[in-house]
Amino acid sequence: MDAVDVAADLSEVLFTSDQIAARLSEIAAQIDADYAGTNPLLVGVLNGAVMVMADLSRALSIDCAMDWMAVSSYGMGTHSSGVVRILKDLSTDLVGRHVLVVEDIIDTGLTLTYLMQNLASRNPASLEIMTMFRKPDAMKIQVDVKYIGFDLPNQFVVGYGLDYSGRYRNLRDVGILAPHVYS
Ligand code: PRP
Repeated sequence: MDAVDVAADLSEVLFTSDQIAARLSEIAAQIDADYAGTNPLLVGVLNGAVMVMADLSRALSIDCAMDWMAVSSYGMGTHSSGVVRILKDLSTDLVGRHVLVVEDIIDTGLTLTYLMQNLASRNPASLEIMTMFRKPDAMKIQVDVKYIGFDLPNQFVVGYGLDYSGRYRNLRDVGILAPHVYS
């Protein structure tokens, strides 16, 4: 699905699929260099990271493994508490592995802060983060991110894995959701 297919639902297109692919190629080249010879484990956080994981992993020239976690926030709001329940854990033992967490977006930073503490306790050789998007103005806690695709405005953004009520994840481009969709 392209932005033109849902043009009435978007107030602005922020990044086209071509821009996303070009940025991913740049990041993949950095990861190729940084992780050469290490067979890193890419850890995707379901569901939103499916798109970036699929595209990033195939843009890499180095061999890598992949595994997945599914998490859910405790509390009233979607990300309000910062305490995360693990719905699906990794199948891979992290001891001695070079682990790169792959995310679609860092919003408040609470999910990744919790996840990174959890993963660090499993004694990986290294632990870093790649996120396709970040909302600097929404962050409640600083997260050290090694690879960032693009910064986003603090608005309702959909596409490339980012959803609104389960919709628009399969939009190839990324855009700001028009207020009439959610008001
Ligand atoms: C998104 C995203 C991160 C989290 C970031 O997941 O994939 O995991 O929110 O938010 P935070 O920085 O405020 O903690 P979401 O819970 O929306 O689930 P999804 O991946 O299934 O869309």
